[in-house]
Amino acid sequence: MQYQVFSREEQVGQAAATLFAAQLLRKPTTVFGFATGSTPIPMYRQLVRWYEEGVLDFSYAHSFNLDEYCGLPADHPQSYHYFMRENLFGGINMPAAHIHVPNGNPKQQDDAGWAAEGEAYDMAIAEAGGIDIQLLSIGANGHIGFNEPDEVFIRDTHRIKLTQATIDSNVRFFDSEDEMPKTALTMGIGSIMRAREIVMVITGPNKADIVHQMMHSEINPKIPATILHAHPNVRVLLDEAAASKL
Ligand code: F6R
Repeated sequence: MQYQVFSREEQVGQAAATLFAAQLLRKPTTVFGFATGSTPIPMYRQLVRWYEEGVLDFSYAHSFNLDEYCGLPADHPQSYHYFMRENLFGGINMPAAHIHVPNGNPKQQDDAGWAAEGEAYDMAIAEAGGIDIQLLSIGANGHIGFNEPDEVFIRDTHRIKLTQATIDSNVRFFDSEDEMPKTALTMGIGSIMRAREIVMVITGPNKADIVHQMMHSEINPKIPATILHAHPNVRVLLDEAAASKL
């Protein structure tokens, strides 16, 4: 796992955008893996700017997002479908048919329905040729995607119960805790680890402890991000605040 520290958060976004842009310029049919949350926003802004300036063309690229809350319609302002439209897809020319975000609101919302959604999502990734470059950040509890701390790693895309730590950290986006979904559909650890390259962006002082734990712990499902030690091509881009305990 290689890491690089930048003095400011915006530089992390610029550096990540540069890696994603270079990948697209090298391979116009790139399959991207994208993440939501506050950390990737500066990177998405830069990609939109480069598209507007005519530097990038996403018309042959495809994308798969990591996760989506269960039970929220795609047009709900806190859904990750909505987030991606607002922050990236609405500003670039990737065709709608090439954009994939897990369906958190399928018709059949029972165990079999969620399992079928997960299976179809992993199948769609495989049919697209697999993810070339996956963007990740990290939750303060060590989650990647919504793979929460657990006794085991779960390989495939699946429905997960969010931990109280995740609910506490994301409730700020909802009017109340009651309104926030308590489950999500997330790419599994295997789905993430199959990406050919992983770029992780981490900023802010509230991530300093988990960054230290991720870097210095053995692979362990109680800190899901430690699995990245087993990936041959991971680059972690940090600001000084997130790197302050290294
Ligand atoms: C989002 C996701 C999560 C976030 C993580 C950090 O798609 O998969 O793992 O990356 O919760 O979120 P922020 O960037 O808001 O701190």
